[in-house]
Amino acid sequence: MTSASFEFATAGRIIAGAGRAAELPAVMAGLGSRALVFTGASLARHDSLLGALPLPAAVFTVAGEPTIEVARAGAAAAREHRADVVAAIGGGSVIDTAKAVAMLLGNGGDPLDYLEVIGSGREITRPAAPCVAVPTTAGTGAEVTANAVLASPEHGIKASLRSPLMIPRVALVDPEMTVSCPPPVTAASGLDALTQCLEPFVSVRANPVTDGLAREGLRRAAAGLRAAHADGGDLAARADMAMCSLLGGIALANAKLGAVHGLAGVIGGTAHVPHGMACAALLAPVVEANVRALRSGPQGGPALDRYAEAARLLTGKPAASIADGLAWIRETSTLLGVPRLATFGVQPGHAGDIAAKAARSSSMRGNPVSLSHDELRAILLEAI
Ligand SMILES: NC(=O)c1ccc[n+]([C@@H]2O[C@H](COP(=O)([O-])OP(=O)(O)OC[C@H]3O[C@@H](n4cnc5c(N)ncnc54)[C@H](O)[C@@H]3O)[C@@H](O)[C@H]2O)c1
Repeated sequence: MTSASFEFATAGRIIAGAGRAAELPAVMAGLGSRALVFTGASLARHDSLLGALPLPAAVFTVAGEPTIEVARAGAAAAREHRADVVAAIGGGSVIDTAKAVAMLLGNGGDPLDYLEVIGSGREITRPAAPCVAVPTTAGTGAEVTANAVLASPEHGIKASLRSPLMIPRVALVDPEMTVSCPPPVTAASGLDALTQCLEPFVSVRANPVTDGLAREGLRRAAAGLRAAHADGGDLAARADMAMCSLLGGIALANAKLGAVHGLAGVIGGTAHVPHGMACAALLAPVVEANVRALRSGPQGGPALDRYAEAARLLTGKPAASIADGLAWIRETSTLLGVPRLATFGVQPGHAGDIAAKAARSSSMRGNPVSLSHDELRAILLEAI
C-alpha cells in the first residue's frame, strides 16, 4: 500500500498556533516590496492585520469559489499594483485565488495555458511569487497544497493549476481565525479536512511520511469535528481542526486524493454546491463503494487494513471495524446537518454525466480501487 519510493514537498515555513496570525506583517516584511492581499467579502474582519502591513498593499476580494475569470482579474490587479508578493487571508477560495495569481506572476500567461484537464496543461517551470497563506476555515489545507482549484462554468467542471512551485512560501495557521465560522461552514470545511486525511491514507500513492500525517489528522478530526460544530468558541476543538486541515493538506499534496474529490470537482463545476458539502455528502457512499469493490477484488487487503485503522482512529475504539467507522461518519454527517446533493439542484439525471467526467479527474487516480462507471453513478445517486 505504502510506496517506498516517493517525493515529498511542503511549504517553506509553517507557523502554527493560537494568536500567531498577528505575525503576518513581520512575515511579509522580508518577502517583497509591494503586496496584493486576497480576502473574502468580510474585509472588516481583518482590518487590524491589514492596517499593520509594513509595505504598500492593495486588497482584492474574492466572493465565492474562484473561477478562471476571477484568477484572471486577480492577476490583472496584481500587475496593475506591481505586486511582487501576495497574501491570502481567507478560506480555500481566497487562498486558491492568491496561489493562482502568484503562479501567473512568476510564469506569465493565462490560467488556461496551465490548467489540467480543460486547459493546455503547460508545465509550470518558474517559481511563483512568494505567497503567504492564512486560512480562516479548517479546511482545505490549501495553505500547504501544490494546486489551486478554479471552476470553469463553460466546461461545467473544476480543474487545478498544479506544481510543487505553487506551494505557498509561508503557511500561517491560527485556529483563532476560524472561530467566526458559522456551523454550516465548520461542517462543510471540517468534513473536507477529514476526507483529505482519509483519502491520502488509503491512496495508491500513500508514502511513509503522508501516512504519519494522515493518522494524526484523523485523530484530530475525531477529537475536534463534532465539538467545533457544537460550540464554535471551543478553541481546543478549533485547534484540532486547524491541525486536521493542515495535516490533510500536506498529505494530499504528496499522496493524492480519491473518488470523493474526483466526483466533488465535477459537481462543484456543475452546480452551486460548496466544495466541503459535496465532499461531505459523498464521503460515506464512496467509502462503502470502495470497501465493497476492494473486498470483491484480488488486492483489497492493504487498503482494507487502512480503512479498519481509520475506523479505530475515528471512533477511538481499539476493536472498531470498518462498519463501525462508516457508522461514525454517517452519524457525524447527520449531527452536522449535511444535506443531500439534491438540495443544491443536483438531479439523478445528472449522475451519468458527472460519473463520466469524474473518471477522467486527477484525484480519481489516487483511489485505492478502480470504480466502474456504474459504481460511480450508484455513489452519486445515493448522495443525491
Ligand atoms: N487547493 C487545494 O488544495 C484545495 C483543497 C480543497 C478545496 N479547495 C477549494 O477551496 C474552496 C473551498 O474552500 P473552503 O471550504 O475553505 O470555503 P470558502 O473559502 O469558499 O469559504 C466558505 C464560506 O465561508 C466564509 N468564511 C471563510 N472563513 C470564515 C470565517 N473565519 N468566519 C466566517 N465566515 C468565513 C467565506 O466567506 C465563504 O462564504 C473550493 O473552491 C475548493 O475547490 C482547494
